[in-house]
Amino acid sequence: MIRQKIVAGNWKMNGSKESIVSLINGLLEMEDSNSEVVVAPSFPYLSQVNDLISDSSIVLAAQNVSQEVKGAYTGEVSTSMLGDFGVKYVLLGHSERRSLYGETNELVASKVKAVLDSGLTPMLCIGETLAERESGKTLGVCEQQLQAVIDVVGIVSFEQMVIAYEPVWAIGTGLSASAEQAQEVHSSIRAFLAKSSESVSQKVQILYGGSVKASTSSALFQMPDVDGALVGGASLDAKEFIAIVKTAG
Ligand code: 13P
Repeated sequence: MIRQKIVAGNWKMNGSKESIVSLINGLLEMEDSNSEVVVAPSFPYLSQVNDLISDSSIVLAAQNVSQEVKGAYTGEVSTSMLGDFGVKYVLLGHSERRSLYGETNELVASKVKAVLDSGLTPMLCIGETLAERESGKTLGVCEQQLQAVIDVVGIVSFEQMVIAYEPVWAIGTGLSASAEQAQEVHSSIRAFLAKSSESVSQKVQILYGGSVKASTSSALFQMPDVDGALVGGASLDAKEFIAIVKTAG
């Protein structure tokens, strides 16, 4: 099964009106790629970025969304608002949301449902902490995080989703999982999904995230079950991000 690679930049809470213009201008110099290139700015900049990329093949993502459709939810942003600004993907369950903002598996699952209901595509982030890895719980944690979503939206919906495996110990630490470590978990995730649906497990794109740089992405992308990357820090540098995209082919 050939799965298109996705290289997505999660800008997290970084950038300004000015810096975003130069970052996007840098990205617009990218040569055509067979991979899908995605950027995820903070909410206030979605409209600006949507305009700046309108003549390019770069795709827009948001970093979070409310599970509610509309109403008295001060400070929240709905899926339809994201749709108004050309958003295709929504990151959900990022480890920073889970650990810093108390997002549980159940809340993440309800957000996945809201995003699917609105016709947008969830990019579901899963992954274990260092303590969990060291106590042999990596797959158990990933499976629990996935099962909570399967319980709410069903396995077939995973055809409409992207998974990002982001080991917490590799995020922002400069300590990427090796290509072999990533492959091991990615293939296990696929095997877990295959227990519910072989065809869904073959179709779903599984990205790796955690200290991805151009110097490490090439080996990662050669792994049969690594279908791209979710890049944090390195996505704020246009040259580095383009170099990562190049290694994806
Ligand atoms: P870093 O690439 O900065 O480690 O961040 C990864 C990440 O959290 C992407 O969502």
